[in-house]
Amino acid sequence: MTAITPDTIQWNDLGFSYIDTGKSFRAYFKDGQWSEGQIESSKYISISEASPVFHYGQSCFEGLKAYRTQNGDIQLFRPDKNADRMIDSAERLLMEPYPKEAFIEAVHKIVKENAEWVPPYESGATLYIRPFLMGVGDIVGVKPADEYIFSIFVTPVGPYFKGGLKPANFLISDYDRAAPNGTGAAKVGGNYAAGNLAGKLAKDQGYADAIFLDPATKTKIEEVGSANFFAITADNRFITPKSPSILPSITKYSLIDIARERLGMEAVETDVYLEELSGFSEAGAMGTAAVITPIGSIVHGEHRYVFGNGQEVGSVTQRLYSELVGIQFGDVVAPEGWIQKVKLG
Ligand SMILES: Cc1ncc(COP(=O)(O)O)c(C=O)c1O
Repeated sequence: MTAITPDTIQWNDLGFSYIDTGKSFRAYFKDGQWSEGQIESSKYISISEASPVFHYGQSCFEGLKAYRTQNGDIQLFRPDKNADRMIDSAERLLMEPYPKEAFIEAVHKIVKENAEWVPPYESGATLYIRPFLMGVGDIVGVKPADEYIFSIFVTPVGPYFKGGLKPANFLISDYDRAAPNGTGAAKVGGNYAAGNLAGKLAKDQGYADAIFLDPATKTKIEEVGSANFFAITADNRFITPKSPSILPSITKYSLIDIARERLGMEAVETDVYLEELSGFSEAGAMGTAAVITPIGSIVHGEHRYVFGNGQEVGSVTQRLYSELVGIQFGDVVAPEGWIQKVKLG
C-alpha cells in the first residue's frame, strides 16, 4: 500500500483514524530529570517489557486539535487547559508530570513540524494532537515507575461521530466506567479499557455509543462514551452533570461560558437525573473529538427518550455549535486567552 501523504490525502473523507505523519515529539524522564524534547521520525517506541505501563496501566493522555483558519493560519484551542489536566491525571497515578510550559511549547513545536498535515479550512477536518505519558523501566512489584516517556503524535481527522450535526442515538449501559472515588476525573488509559465493552455492546446494536450512569446510585447521567453530556431544559437552561467521576471536559467549560456570555442563558453543572430526561428539549455530547454531537434519543431498558423530533439538531445546540466551531476556526472572535496561533516561520 502506498503511504498517504499531504498531497494524496482526501481531506473531505477523513474518519477518526491514525495516519503516520512521520514526526513525533518525545522527551524522557530519567535520574530525576526531563530530557530536552526532540522530534523523532519513528512511530515506534522501544521500552522494557517490565514497564509499568504494560502491566499496571501507568498511562495518561490528552487530546486537542489544531485548526486551519480562512487566511491559512494554524491555531490551537486552549492548550493550557490540556497541560493542566494532564498534570492532574499524572499526579492521580503518581507519575512524573510533564511541566506545563514545556507541554505547551511541545504542542506548538509538533504542530509546526507537521504543518502540511493540518487540513484546509472548510474541509471539516482538523489535526488531532495526542500527548501521552507512560511509566517505563524495569519494575515488577506494584509501584510507580522511576522513568517516564512523554510523547506527542498528530494525525489528521474528520468527525468522530459521522453525520455532523445529525442527531445520534445512544444506549445507557449497565456497566460502570469509573468508581465513585476512582480515576474517572483523570484521563488515564484504564478508564477507556474499562469502557470498551459497554461501547462495543452499544455499537453492535446500532447505537453511536454507550452512556454511563453514576456508579453509586445508577440514577444520574454521567458520561456519553468519551464525551460529556449536556441538555437544554424546557425553561432554556444549559445543564451538564456535576460529578467527581467524569472527565472535566475543556469543551464543556467553554460551552458553559459561551451559553452564559454569548447566548445569555443560565448554565449550570448539576445532578442530571434519568427521570428528568423526558423534560429536556435538546441534548448533546461535547468534547474535542465529538465537538458537539446532538443526541436524538437515549434508550434505557424499555424506555426511549427522544429529544425534539429526534431527527434534526435543535436551535440552541445549533447556536452553541456555530459559536464554538467559529471560535476554533477563527471565524468568530474568541474570548481572551482561548486561542494560540502557531508561529510557522
Ligand atoms: C471520557 C471523556 N469525557 C469527556 C471528554 C471531553 O473532554 P474535552 O472536551 O476536554 O475533549 C473526553 C475527551 O477528551 C473523554 O475522553
